[in-house]
Amino acid sequence: MTTAQGIALQTKGLTKDFRGFRAVHGVDLTVAAGGVHALVGPNGAGKTTLFNLLSGFLVPTAGTISVNGEDVTGLQPEQIAHKGVARSFQITSLFENLDPREHVELALQSRTTTGRKFWRSDRLMRQFRPRADELLEEVGLTHLATKPAGELAYGQKRALEMALVLALDPKIMLLDEPTAGMGIEDVTRTIDLVRKIAVGRTVVFVDHNMHVVGSLADRVTVLQQGRVLAEGSYEEVRTDPRVITAYLGESAHA
Ligand SMILES: Nc1ncnc2c1ncn2[C@@H]1O[C@H](COP(=O)(O)OP(=O)(O)OP(=O)(O)O)[C@@H](O)[C@H]1O
Ligand SMILES: [Mg+2]
Repeated sequence: MTTAQGIALQTKGLTKDFRGFRAVHGVDLTVAAGGVHALVGPNGAGKTTLFNLLSGFLVPTAGTISVNGEDVTGLQPEQIAHKGVARSFQITSLFENLDPREHVELALQSRTTTGRKFWRSDRLMRQFRPRADELLEEVGLTHLATKPAGELAYGQKRALEMALVLALDPKIMLLDEPTAGMGIEDVTRTIDLVRKIAVGRTVVFVDHNMHVVGSLADRVTVLQQGRVLAEGSYEEVRTDPRVITAYLGESAHA
């Protein structure tokens, strides 16, 4: 059992309605500090909505969210980020003409007090270069540090997004489908990368690829129609008849 002290993230009765439609319905979620926790479930189950609630991009209709025991319900995204929670960026947030190093430098700079400055001098940015290069190395992009982001392959863009999240040095990372649309090579690389960055951190991730879930997660929560359907180890949920039915139901409708 997880003690209150060892809980990184917790929701109680978390609920989100969209014009009468209940996308997230009374979710009680407990994520252990230092754990790698997967959120799975059929399309439309409410996984991304739950992430949007956890990161403050949506305000819950009901229920509470706490980070390291502190109530953060209703806080703005920046305030929640300040508590050490970061979610993966979307690909669309990359600047086509900036290279990976410049992206990471900007992300590092955004953490500092000068973060809101519009004008940025080369000298100012250069102080972030050593750390930027470390992060690029960590995600395997050293050889592409100066290539415009618009020319990167899909898997490389996703690796860059990961570096941008790492630049914030979050204690809790929320990754929404980190391997979506990837070929087997990039999937394998991403699994290794998530394993590496999970050391000393808490990771919550959504993925439809059960190989990824089985490789990474020490705890799995299954959502269906906004509710928690099952929770346990990967082996436990994989063999749970309710989970099997939920997924069969999905493929039957596909
Ligand atoms: N802003 C919104 N307004 C209205 N309905 C929404 C909104 N965002 C999500 N929904 C609905 O809420 C439900 C849950 O959506 P959500 O994106 O959280 O699912 P998901 O589990 O992430 O699915 P997927 O696996 O396809 O990414 C869906 O029925 C979706 O259409
Ligand atoms: Mg989603």
